Amino acid sequence: MSEVITIAMQKGGVGKTTTTINLAAALAEMGFSVLMVDLDSQGNLTEHAGFDPEGISPTVYHAFRDEIDGVEPDIEASIYKTEEGFDLLPSQPEMSVIELSLINVMSRERVLDLILDSVRDEYDYILIDCSPSLGLLVINALTASDKVLIPVQTEFLAARGASMILKSIATVKRGLNPDLEVAGIVLTMADTRTIITRDIVNAIQEQMGGEYRVFQSIVRRSVRFAESAAAGQSVISYEPKGRGAAAYRAVARELVNG
Ligand SMILES: Nc1ncnc2c1ncn2[C@@H]1O[C@H](COP(=O)(O)OP(=O)(O)O)[C@@H](O)[C@H]1O
Ligand SMILES: [Mg+2]
Repeated sequence: MSEVITIAMQKGGVGKTTTTINLAAALAEMGFSVLMVDLDSQGNLTEHAGFDPEGISPTVYHAFRDEIDGVEPDIEASIYKTEEGFDLLPSQPEMSVIELSLINVMSRERVLDLILDSVRDEYDYILIDCSPSLGLLVINALTASDKVLIPVQTEFLAARGASMILKSIATVKRGLNPDLEVAGIVLTMADTRTIITRDIVNAIQEQMGGEYRVFQSIVRRSVRFAESAAAGQSVISYEPKGRGAAAYRAVARELVNG
């Protein structure tokens, strides 16, 4: 049984892309087959996985294009194997055009769901990385997903920023995808000073923990994340024995264990 998980938050720079690739790497290391889908026209995930979003073709753009035009898309052609053992359905800048052209499409919220139908059974996990917006592509991701994971920066009041995405999730649950579940909140970019972090984690737990699961494993701030991105690798491959790798392995275990 495959599980489709969207990593979403309407704020940029909170660690969505970093969480997507490192979860993918951790899950692949555990022996699961994993596909990452880059839905962001910025192509950060594509780049982080070692591909050039300006040069790679075909991509998720072509899959959307075909599906919108009523042509059966060749998804397999747009899926690339990474050296780390997981697969990638990359993005390219033209995805920003798709966001607009979807407006006039029938079942415009279900296009990604249709695209993924032909590959769903080939993976244990499909992780979808979204742009920092609440646009139609994010709605497509939520509609195609079983679960959504929300990365939140470990700062005071940061949890407030999650209210918008939680509203979108509630809207999608009411109509398009009643079975959508919030897998939980992953705290990222925590200060390395433990005392302050504890207070913030407690505050977020108090604010959100009643209704949503806040993952026990917290991802601390480390320059290794930016370094690994520049190297086109997950931090799990870049620094397998580091704290960042350990943190995402722990998040993956929590996710798998439910
Ligand atoms: N735990 C972390 N510690 C330090 N830097 C991080 C961490 N997680 C992500 N980053 C860096 O912060 C920036 C934004 O992260 P990213 O995952 O791209 O966020 P988003 O996808 O939400 O915009 C990137 O440069 C990334 O390398
Ligand atoms: Mg991103």
